[in-house]
Amino acid sequence: MMGRGRFIALEGGEGVGKSTQVRALAAALRARGHDVVETREPGGSEGAEAIRRLLLEGAADRWTPGAEALLFAAARADHVARTIRPALDAGRWVLTDRFLDSSLAYQGGAEGVSVEQLLALHAVGSGGLLPDRTLLLTLPADEALRRAETRDRGGADRIGGRDAAFHAKVAASFAQLASGAAERFRVVDALGDADTVTACLLAALEGL
Ligand code: TMP
Repeated sequence: MMGRGRFIALEGGEGVGKSTQVRALAAALRARGHDVVETREPGGSEGAEAIRRLLLEGAADRWTPGAEALLFAAARADHVARTIRPALDAGRWVLTDRFLDSSLAYQGGAEGVSVEQLLALHAVGSGGLLPDRTLLLTLPADEALRRAETRDRGGADRIGGRDAAFHAKVAASFAQLASGAAERFRVVDALGDADTVTACLLAALEGL
């Protein structure tokens, strides 16, 4: 990792508080003197934000699982090329709200696209780039649902609005991904107050 910044992804299902924690963790890292870029998926570059609108607006059945996987991979390719790689090359720390593991959990675990195919798309689009560390925020299903329902975002999007069975598959898939790549993942309980969760996330960056 010499001469290169650090790449950190926050992952988890709906309502676990990722966006709040990305902001808080970025502030904590800046306070320690790091130059931090906050970004998100789908999005994080002009082209990827345009694809985000295609992905999150419209009817639930607007795209097939395969088309959805391709669109997420295309958005990620632009995000990596235009935002993430240039920042890492400049020695900056990149903190992203979601990355590849969201595709593996949502399009893979919950929608049935194979892991091999998703990794192949990631190789084509993004050169197989992986985070140095992936922080998985977890909540019990009923608490995640309660938070997702009460947050102010003008209604759920195409994917966030899917049923509880879909989100249970997403959560199970994230847990499996984390246990299968324990050196890259750290699992952090999101149930405590925001400051406690931020402190746990910061501690989970040890070694970077
Ligand atoms: P968010 O802004 O609430 O995180 O919305 C993004 C939605 O897109 C969320 O429901 C998760 C979903 N998603 C995927 O299905 N696959 C992906 O690869 C990514 C990045 C997000």
